Amino acid sequence: MLPFSTDLHSHLIPGIDDGAVDMEESLNLLHRLQEIGYRRIVTTPHVMADSYRNSSQAIREGCRILRQAAQNQGIEMEISAAAEYYMDEELLRRVKAKDILTVGEGYLLFETSYYSHPLYLEQNVYEIAASGYRPLMAHPERYRYVREPERFYGRLRELGVVFQVNINSFGGHYGDDARKKAYWLAEKGWITFLGSDLHHRRQAEFLAESVASGLLVPILQKNDILNDTLQFSEH
Ligand SMILES: [Fe+2]
Repeated sequence: MLPFSTDLHSHLIPGIDDGAVDMEESLNLLHRLQEIGYRRIVTTPHVMADSYRNSSQAIREGCRILRQAAQNQGIEMEISAAAEYYMDEELLRRVKAKDILTVGEGYLLFETSYYSHPLYLEQNVYEIAASGYRPLMAHPERYRYVREPERFYGRLRELGVVFQVNINSFGGHYGDDARKKAYWLAEKGWITFLGSDLHHRRQAEFLAESVASGLLVPILQKNDILNDTLQFSEH
């Protein structure tokens, strides 16, 4: 029922952000993803100056340990790691230092505040692209400050941003505003990637139900979803 087998957004490295708290939970979530139909995942811990200062090295190391544990459990999943970068000074510092864990070939997964329009969003996106990365906005449908979708999303697209929508948004897991914006983007054909953004069990159950309900079918008809085209890197 799952129309692709690659996920590119989750929080499964134990204990380094607000996702899985320990290895047992990580393995349970991986198991669930396998049952849903996933075979390859890029897991993406938060990197945020204020709360999650995860270094690239710490993420790589966490991924290595997770991969080993999954293998020991007989979970058949190709696992790599990148990060979900909060748009702040720390991100720009890492961009300038070329210290970015990318998704696939050069995609930089970033998020912003849910409530207030980030200062210098366009300039920062420009900076990211000028440094050779491909700006990939995590869950554009979840930003409450977006009041004029056509203008906001359209402008970002002009600047080269591509969008990763959370599958759970379509079923209303994040509320009505996110659901409406997810469908708005789907109608436009502006979605490039679909993500699980999995943090914990409840989201896994919601995801399983959403996929089983077939709600992705019409979305796939209108959007060129590139999940399965992602190249896997070493990290
Ligand atoms: Fe996330």
